[in-house]
Amino acid sequence: MADKLIIFDTTLRDGEQSPGASMNKDEKLRIARQLERLKVDVIEAGFAASSNGDFEAVQCIANAIKDSTICSLSRANDRDISRAAEALQGANSARIHTFIATSALHMEKKLRMTPDQVFEQAKLAVRFARNLVNDVEFSPEDGYRSDVDFLCRVIEAVISEGATTINVPDTVGYAVPELYGNFIKNLRERIPNSDKAIWSVHCHNDLGMAVANSLAGVKIGGARQVECTINGLGERAGNCSLEEVVMAVKTRRDYFGLDLGIDTKHILAASRMVSQTTGFVVQPNKAVVGANAFAHASGIHQDGVLKARDTYEIMRAEDVGWTANKIVLGKLSGRNAFKQRLQELGVQLESEADVNNAFAKFKELADRKSEIFDEDILALVSDESVTHDKEQYGFVSLSQHSETGERPQACIVFTADGKEVKSSSDGNGPVDASLKAIEAHVKSGAEMVLYSVNAISGSTESQGEVTVRLQNSGRVVNGIGADPDIVVASAKAYLSALNKLHSKADRVAAQG
Ligand code: KIV
Ligand code: ZN
Repeated sequence: MADKLIIFDTTLRDGEQSPGASMNKDEKLRIARQLERLKVDVIEAGFAASSNGDFEAVQCIANAIKDSTICSLSRANDRDISRAAEALQGANSARIHTFIATSALHMEKKLRMTPDQVFEQAKLAVRFARNLVNDVEFSPEDGYRSDVDFLCRVIEAVISEGATTINVPDTVGYAVPELYGNFIKNLRERIPNSDKAIWSVHCHNDLGMAVANSLAGVKIGGARQVECTINGLGERAGNCSLEEVVMAVKTRRDYFGLDLGIDTKHILAASRMVSQTTGFVVQPNKAVVGANAFAHASGIHQDGVLKARDTYEIMRAEDVGWTANKIVLGKLSGRNAFKQRLQELGVQLESEADVNNAFAKFKELADRKSEIFDEDILALVSDESVTHDKEQYGFVSLSQHSETGERPQACIVFTADGKEVKSSSDGNGPVDASLKAIEAHVKSGAEMVLYSVNAISGSTESQGEVTVRLQNSGRVVNGIGADPDIVVASAKAYLSALNKLHSKADRVAAQG
C-alpha cells in the first residue's frame, strides 16, 4: 500500500496573516466547513493565544468540525499552549502546533536568546503540550536557515519529549527544490529517533518556489505532510498552494506514488470562497483554479481537445469542481430552494433571521438580474449586512450623476451607529465621488492601498465584486461589496472596510 500524504491546511492561520486577509469567526467557520468537505486532514484554525477573536474562532471550529484534526498554533510557552488546549477542548481530534525560531539570526536579533535557552524552551514546550494533547507538532521557525547541527539537537530532543510531527519551515522562502529536499533527507538520516515522528514541509513563496520546494521535500526528503493554503494565500508572496500541490501529487501519482485523502471536486468552491471572503482575487492564469486554467483559446488547442481531450489536458476540469456555469436559481425560486442551495454550497447561516435576511437580498437581486449563479449567492452571503446587523456602517441607497465633460456627483445614504446619514460629494468619477461622500462624514483618514473590480460571472450582466483595501495606523483591512451596479458595490466595499478598520483586533504576530 502506498504511503498517505497528509494535507495540513493553514489558510485560517498563516493565510490569514497576509495583510488585509483577516477574517471574522463566521467567515472562518464557513471556510473550515469547506475544508472539511474537501477532506483536508488537518485544519490549522488559528493562533488561539494571539487574540480573543482568534481564540473564539479556534474554539468554534473545534466544536463544529468533526472529520478533520483541528490545530492551533502556539508559541513555545505555557500560556500560549494552555490557551491552545483550552480552545481545542471540543475537538474530536486536536493538535497543538508549537514553534520557536532556531536560526542564529532569529535567536539573536528577534528572540535575544542563546541557542541553549532556545533548546531548553523547545523541550519544555513540547513536554508541556504533550501533557495536554497526544498530537503535538513542533516547528523550528526559520528552520531552513538554521545551523544543521543545532537543528538536529533540537529536533532529536523534542521527538524524545513526544512531538509527533516535525515541521521544517522555509519561513522566508529562501530554499530551492533540490537543496530543500536534501535538507529534509539529511535531517531524517542524522537524527537517531527521526522515525518516531511524521515529517512535514512548510514553504513560503518569496521566490515562487513554495510548491516545488514542498514537493521536493516530499519526494527527496521523505516528508509525509505538506502545509499549504487555498490559493497560496499567506504573508508576502504567500504559502504553498493546496490546489497545486494536491493536483501535482494526484496527476503525477506515477512519480510521487502517494495517496491523498482529498476530495478534489471541492477545490474550486474552496478557492472561490477564500477569494470572495478575503478579497484576494485569483489571477486568471493561476494553475488549477484560475479562470483560464482549462480554457483553450488557440484554434489548434481547441481542435485537439475536441478530437481527444488528453492532447492538451492533463487533468479533468470536473475533477477540481469546474462545471459549466449553471443557472441555479431565479426570481421564482422559493425560500426552501434558496436554503437548500446554501447548504449545498456549504453556507451555514447562524439563525433563521440571517436566512430571512439573505433570502430578502436574494429576491432583490433576482428582480434586477434574471440568472443567479452560485457565485452570486456566495457574494450575497459574504455581504456582511446579511449576518452582521450590528456593524457600525451599513449601506442604504445611492444616487449619482455623471456625464461626459461634467464633474460626477454622488449622494449616499448609509447608517452610522444605527442612524441614517446622508452625504454628498463630487469626484473624478462616480466611484470616487461616492467614496468621498462617505469619507466626508466618517473622516476615517484611512489611505486606500487597493481598489479592484471583478465581474463575478463573466458578463456585463454579472454582479461587480469590488475589493477596497484601507490602511490606517499600521492596520490593513479589506472590504468587499457586490452589486450589479459597480458604484454601489464600491460604496458597500468601502463601508465594509471601515467596519473592519474600526473593529478591535489587537493580536500578537506569529512571527515577529
Ligand atoms: O513560516 C513559518 O515559519 C511559520 C511557523 C510559525 C510554522 O509559519
Ligand atoms: Zn509560515
